[in-house]
Amino acid sequence: MLLSIKDLDFFVRKSHILRSVSLEVNEKEIVGLLGRNGAGKSSIIKCILGLYTPESGSILLKKEDITSWTTRRRVLSGLAYAPEDARVFPDLSVKENVKLSTWIIEKRQDGETFDLELGFEIFPKLKGLWERKGGNLSGGEKKMVSVTRALALKPDLLLLDESFEGLSPLVVRHFSNAMGRIRDMGISILLAESNLANTARVANRAYVIERGEAIFQGTPEEIEKEESLSLILGR
Ligand SMILES: Nc1ncnc2c1ncn2[C@@H]1O[C@H](COP(=O)(O)OP(=O)(O)OP(=O)(O)O)[C@@H](O)[C@H]1O
Ligand SMILES: [Mg+2]
Repeated sequence: MLLSIKDLDFFVRKSHILRSVSLEVNEKEIVGLLGRNGAGKSSIIKCILGLYTPESGSILLKKEDITSWTTRRRVLSGLAYAPEDARVFPDLSVKENVKLSTWIIEKRQDGETFDLELGFEIFPKLKGLWERKGGNLSGGEKKMVSVTRALALKPDLLLLDESFEGLSPLVVRHFSNAMGRIRDMGISILLAESNLANTARVANRAYVIERGEAIFQGTPEEIEKEESLSLILGR
């Protein structure tokens, strides 16, 4: 098992944001976090990264307890993240924006080298935009840069927060195919998504998150069939 979260509780002041969330991601697996706005998907990802500090519960990465590790140490251990808002710096070129993720570390703990251009496989369009300033990119292009930046670290687990959002249907198709290739390279993906169809394209399994709880777990087909979820997933 690559990632294992047990009974994670997270509060913001008195608001109980995550309620005893447990989930697992295996090697070579694409796992969806499916839920509507405000369900807690991004909070789960931020807890995994150490950007949020859970009240209780544990997070294991490759059998090591990383619950109290710094974000930097978690990244050195094989996590990478493309946030919901892409965080592309407007005054830096696309190339510099991608390189940014690798500036914080000389090389991976295990000696694995970086690959700035890994994302070209998924987003060939980025080749032509390599020197363009981040500020002059479209919303969808920023998403591509953000995913490419995370991939450059050659992580074991890629955390993607709504990476499909704002991509045109054709690019969504390319991207879902490419995610399969990323998985074949041995990189697992945890993908937050509010759209079941997008999740079903790529995920081996998904967890349905509702009001801070993981209320269902199964294959996309099982989720589609489950009557009790139809309201939550807007069917
Ligand atoms: N730092 C914070 N301060 C206050 N409230 C927060 C904070 N982080 C999350 N929340 C609240 O926790 C709940 C879950 O938020 P979260 O961003 O995890 O949801 P989400 O599933 O990612 O939603 P979306 O699909 O809109 O991105 C929301 O009610 C949100 O307002
Ligand atoms: Mg979110």
